[in-house]
Amino acid sequence: MIKNTVLQPPALSAQGPGATGRKIRFVSIGTGIRGCDLLRSARQVPTGECVGTADLYTMHQKAGQEAYGADIPTTREYRSLLDRKDVDAVIVACADHQHRRVVLDCVAAGKDVYCEKPMSHNVADGLAMVEAVQKNKRIFQAGSQRVSSIVYKKATEIYKSGRLGEVTYIEAHTDRNSPSGAWVYPVAPDASPETIDWATWLRDAPERPFDAERFFRWRCFADYGEGVAGDLYVHLLSGFQCVSGINAPPARAYSTGSLTHFKDGRDFPDLLATLYDYPGVAVKMHCNQNNASGEAMVFYGRQGTMEIVDNTVTVTPQDTSPQPEGYSLNGWTAAAKKKYLEEWHAAHPEPAVKLGEVETYSAPHGYDDTADHLANFFHAVETREHVVEDEIFGNNAAIACHMANHSYFQRTVATWDDSTKTMKG
Ligand SMILES: NC(=O)c1ccc[n+]([C@@H]2O[C@H](COP(=O)([O-])OP(=O)(O)OC[C@H]3O[C@@H](n4cnc5c(N)ncnc54)[C@H](O)[C@@H]3O)[C@@H](O)[C@H]2O)c1
Repeated sequence: MIKNTVLQPPALSAQGPGATGRKIRFVSIGTGIRGCDLLRSARQVPTGECVGTADLYTMHQKAGQEAYGADIPTTREYRSLLDRKDVDAVIVACADHQHRRVVLDCVAAGKDVYCEKPMSHNVADGLAMVEAVQKNKRIFQAGSQRVSSIVYKKATEIYKSGRLGEVTYIEAHTDRNSPSGAWVYPVAPDASPETIDWATWLRDAPERPFDAERFFRWRCFADYGEGVAGDLYVHLLSGFQCVSGINAPPARAYSTGSLTHFKDGRDFPDLLATLYDYPGVAVKMHCNQNNASGEAMVFYGRQGTMEIVDNTVTVTPQDTSPQPEGYSLNGWTAAAKKKYLEEWHAAHPEPAVKLGEVETYSAPHGYDDTADHLANFFHAVETREHVVEDEIFGNNAAIACHMANHSYFQRTVATWDDSTKTMKG
């Protein structure tokens, strides 16, 4: 028997900024793929209002306006947005190598920040961002939206209830098998040094002549992205941190992998597999861009197994009732086996406890966890209440991504030294 439950999301307005009913006025820096998705989701959230955008590429500026469905002011130079006194908060959705600079500018200007995942491009960037956010006493939320998902909330509730028993092993993966899944994104026909401010985009990365492929496929290159670790592990790691309550970098990471198919000049492997040591739990993670197994996270407990696949959590109880030995009696005589079983049943008179049902919990069709993540952020901006996925949480997830890459590229075990906040190995 399987018991299926459809989870009900809270009304987005119910996650409002509080008694004042005021809308949080925000601007968006970076209105490419993700920036536009965020603006589309923001349209559903009544507690926030976009009042400006910035992007370095003309088409993305227009796409941002289209995504929000309003003629909001847009600029190439984000500093003018940060000078505006009527702006409470900023969504940062530019490429990863720009996160540090943009976030530091935002918090120095007194703005709260929603920064896309992975929070940092490298360990030093993440530490500098944590320090700046805390020094300026800003609300910061990293953008791994699963942390606000009703599906992960349910999984967290189940995990914390102890129903799974002791969990010592967690497995997670995101696999996809298409050029798009490996970031072979088309170069837009209008891309040129006139439509893209290449010099600004390149800031904080090594200089090179205009290269539209790098602009659109930045995830493939170590100067701007972190490969599958920064793009995909970070979601799994944030989900794992959220459900398990473990909010720390792993003590150790060991990666293997390969680049077998997408040999297009990229810096990163198209298969990465990592073993992590977290307190009390081993985590195995992989991303394979050559097999479409999708996304799953499995928590293996002594009393039950919990699996999150897309927008569904499934809990399968383990049968831990006492059982007479079977297999090893194959080498016993019939008489010895009979005697053992008679004695065993006499010693275990209770009928076996009935095994619980398999339970599933799913989000309704069309559920948008990004809208919930934005609503949580707007709520925190108004109330100054703490967000779960704050700068420490986001930084810890990002550090685990950097450790996975470090281990792969250095062919070593990466370790985290918390006393010096450094990655070793
Ligand atoms: N949470 C998610 O599910 C999710 C999904 C996709 C991407 N992301 C993250 O979102 C971020 C953006 O990814 P993307 O796919 O949208 O990339 P993208 O290249 O499509 O868009 C990034 C945009 O940022 C702009 N930009 C860069 N630096 C800028 C600056 N200094 N000022 C103004 N604009 C600037 C670029 O011009 C570009 O248009 C990345 O950090 C990525 O990892 C998150």
